[in-house]
Amino acid sequence: MRKKMVVGNWKMYTNTATARALAAAVVKGLGDETRVTVGVCPPAPYLLSVAEVLRGSLVALGAQNCYFEKEGAFTGEVSPTMLTDVGCRYVILGHSERRHKLGESDAFINRKVHAALAAGLHVILCLGETLAERQANQTEAVLDTQLQGSFAGLDAQALPRIVLAYEPVWAIGTGQNATPEQAQAAHAFLRGRIAERFGQPAAQSLLIQYGGSVKPDNAATLMHQPDVDGGLIGGASLNADQFLAIVRAALPHG
Ligand code: PGA
Repeated sequence: MRKKMVVGNWKMYTNTATARALAAAVVKGLGDETRVTVGVCPPAPYLLSVAEVLRGSLVALGAQNCYFEKEGAFTGEVSPTMLTDVGCRYVILGHSERRHKLGESDAFINRKVHAALAAGLHVILCLGETLAERQANQTEAVLDTQLQGSFAGLDAQALPRIVLAYEPVWAIGTGQNATPEQAQAAHAFLRGRIAERFGQPAAQSLLIQYGGSVKPDNAATLMHQPDVDGGLIGGASLNADQFLAIVRAALPHG
């Protein structure tokens, strides 16, 4: 059984005070619940401050991005080793906002994946099709291209430190989530492709999160599709009660 994982992507929201308060509320609400893995990804300036709040809790810290060099003259960039230094366990890479608004390519994301893994981080790798691509029946082709491009040069040993996040672009921040059937189909496709390349055992233990307008009222059905192993939560993760309700929805039944 794969343990489900629910991660909050705070995007470019919060400030020092609200980030600390949100983290503290998540820590308190999660308590000693270990049946689901929980993490939060604040904006880079608040990582250290949120790390202090999370210390000793079961809530993991993640970053929303990193660069692929360890250090150097790269004004404005943050390296994977800087992220581990401030206490990050996870880094989100390949988010659609970075792919589409900042022009990140699969090859660029792939370099970051390698660098993040080398620094000891776990990678949450996002992929997903646009509405036009879905309407043109290109979903699987797009997912395949993104997967192969972002995973270039990786071997099976890397897989335990990778989580995939299927995030259809048309569902992100729109209030229009993928149906459980659409999510399940995309996740099963991705797991199948991983099995072909890395073998069944690796594919069966890989976590694949769904992201895109997950809310307390749609979380349970999405989270309990056979190939959906949790969620990457944007908007609803900025409200501790909503985020914690989604975490509870991901708990094993019974
Ligand atoms: P959303 O964002 O939950 O606000 O749709 C998800 C994401 O971008 O990871």
